[in-house]
Amino acid sequence: MSMQSSPEIEALFSERRDFPPPADFAAQSNARPDIYEQADRDFEGFWAAEAERKLSWVQKWTTVLDWQLPYAKWFVGGKLNVAYNCVDRHVENGLGSKVAYYWEGEPGDTRTLTYADLQREVNKCANALLELGVRTGDRVGIYMPMIPELPIAMLACAKIGAPHVVVFGGFSAEALQGRMVDAEAKLVITADGGNRRGKVVDLKASADEAVAGAPTVEHMLVVQRTGHEVAMTAGRDVWWHDIVDRQSDQCEPVAVDSEHLLYLLHTSGTTAKPKGVMHTTAGYLLGIATTHEYIFDIKPDDIYWCAADIGWVTGHSYIVYGPLANATTSILYEGAPDHPAPDRWWSIIEKYKVNILYCAPTAIRSFMKHGDEWPAKHDLSSLRLLGSVGEPINPEAWLWYRRAIGGDRTPVVDTWWQTETGMILITPLPGITTLRPGSATRPFPGVGAKVVDAMGNEVAPGSGGGYLVLTRPWPAMLRGVYKDPERYQQTYWSRYPGMYFTGDGCKIDADGYYWLLGRVDDVMNVAGHRISTIEVESALVDHPAVAEAAVVAKNDPVTGQAIFAFVILRSSAQPSDALAGELREHVGHKIGPIARPKQIMFTPELPKTRSGKIMRRLLRDIAEQRPLGDVTTLADSGIVETIREKAQSSQAEQLV
Ligand code: WT7
Repeated sequence: MSMQSSPEIEALFSERRDFPPPADFAAQSNARPDIYEQADRDFEGFWAAEAERKLSWVQKWTTVLDWQLPYAKWFVGGKLNVAYNCVDRHVENGLGSKVAYYWEGEPGDTRTLTYADLQREVNKCANALLELGVRTGDRVGIYMPMIPELPIAMLACAKIGAPHVVVFGGFSAEALQGRMVDAEAKLVITADGGNRRGKVVDLKASADEAVAGAPTVEHMLVVQRTGHEVAMTAGRDVWWHDIVDRQSDQCEPVAVDSEHLLYLLHTSGTTAKPKGVMHTTAGYLLGIATTHEYIFDIKPDDIYWCAADIGWVTGHSYIVYGPLANATTSILYEGAPDHPAPDRWWSIIEKYKVNILYCAPTAIRSFMKHGDEWPAKHDLSSLRLLGSVGEPINPEAWLWYRRAIGGDRTPVVDTWWQTETGMILITPLPGITTLRPGSATRPFPGVGAKVVDAMGNEVAPGSGGGYLVLTRPWPAMLRGVYKDPERYQQTYWSRYPGMYFTGDGCKIDADGYYWLLGRVDDVMNVAGHRISTIEVESALVDHPAVAEAAVVAKNDPVTGQAIFAFVILRSSAQPSDALAGELREHVGHKIGPIARPKQIMFTPELPKTRSGKIMRRLLRDIAEQRPLGDVTTLADSGIVETIREKAQSSQAEQLV
């Protein structure tokens, strides 16, 4: 990335469609307007008060924060147990018969787990882990489909203080192996398989391949989900139903230090070796429980659905630990959003009367492409709040989400955070914040965030884009990169002394609203203007014919770089030269002639990682007509070949 000239990133796109909180929502909201001022006055005091109110401690802390840059310790001297906080105490408080998870398998089978059920299952699983030789501090790999045994296994690890290392079930054997070797895992918990788009994903075969090269793994604990034939290695592999079911349903939680490692989660790094991001016990649990309560305005009777996979940090924080700490009732769904039809999610919302939905822009844009008729078939009136996470959300997609899903009624919270931050950091509070589509609005109470230029000088609100940095420690922040302190220092703390470097571009508008501009490595430089991909993409998606767009820079003899746009049309529109010209003019009109794409290519799909992030690196390879780089993190490798063939058969519209 080059960072020589100013302004760092041009801020071209301006969006001014404001949505104040509905009066009835504001009147009942968990967060009160003075929360910002209170937290800003004394952020340590703010978190300390929340820690007293929200968490159950075996031993209270002595020091709220010990900050020795870049290492933070929160609630020093405290002892507690995460599983106790998420499950046992709710049962003790009379909530045993409250539902923790309504689970739905892709084939349509269902299970309901109350907090009492969850407690029994977690205890049995924890006892099985002990029988298999796992002790406090040992790392346990988890490679599972979205079935109830996945959160059960995580909580069982937490109950005995064994850090878990969850690897997304869609990842390859190679990815699993690398993570198990890095973590020196003692045990791997997996399943025979899972269901995805009507097919069985053979997890056990991948786990076998992975474990063959991970010598620290002594046993594999295997859940039977699909029932298809799998190989079991004698002496190493154990069926869940053989060992877990016969255990005692009593298990003492192990009280661990506030800073005890709760889990490692490897960032899916598109280039280098994945980093094992470390999250610890008290600060992490507090950060996610507090943000979950205020941002999603959680009430005791809410049915809440975070539709991510537990294999990502979103699932760790906002399907498992945050909601359970708050004794929330959640939905857990195993399969694909469009199986058997594009209204699977909407039928789940109607069936369980879901009140709060939290998902990714990539899902929203794909639903938008399928058209309004799919959500329109269902009664979605139970919804009172919608959330978005994972990427910048284009204003049009935001507006569609609010209208077609939220019935023109629900607030939409666009939440910015990272695997490393553990908790949401930039976000509206739905009862307080006036929403502006496409903006994550402002830092959560107590969080310090600013935008700086290449020299680290603050960029004044309203004056342009720069780099987002975090200026204060926050309780759920990563505690390091596992076994690699140098990389921790280098990646996050060396660019600007004393500040955490997020790697994201951002601008703050004149009203103090934060607009995330994407990863800084994706910034394009057209004739000396730094243009962010999201602004051009949002201008394209603003056109009624467009469902989704991805733009990349292509080397250009005249302008240095020129913009190459890949466009997915809505099902109602047809590709044509005339339409390409119209889109180009539309972008010119929305944000200025400099941002007009030089080339537009219509495509049915875009290459994405398994978590839904567009892999612009591969699109750049296609635009430059060079061999593709590493494709192992790609969700569907067929797509990129289709696009490349299309580009090569010179269907790309050469417009200039
Ligand atoms: C990166 C972190 C956080 C859980 C899922 C992703 C991008 C995330 C937003 C948002 C704009 C966003 C950033 C960030 N991102 N949320 N609301 N608006 N960008 O976790 O895989 O660690 O990715 O996702 O670029 O740095 P992750």
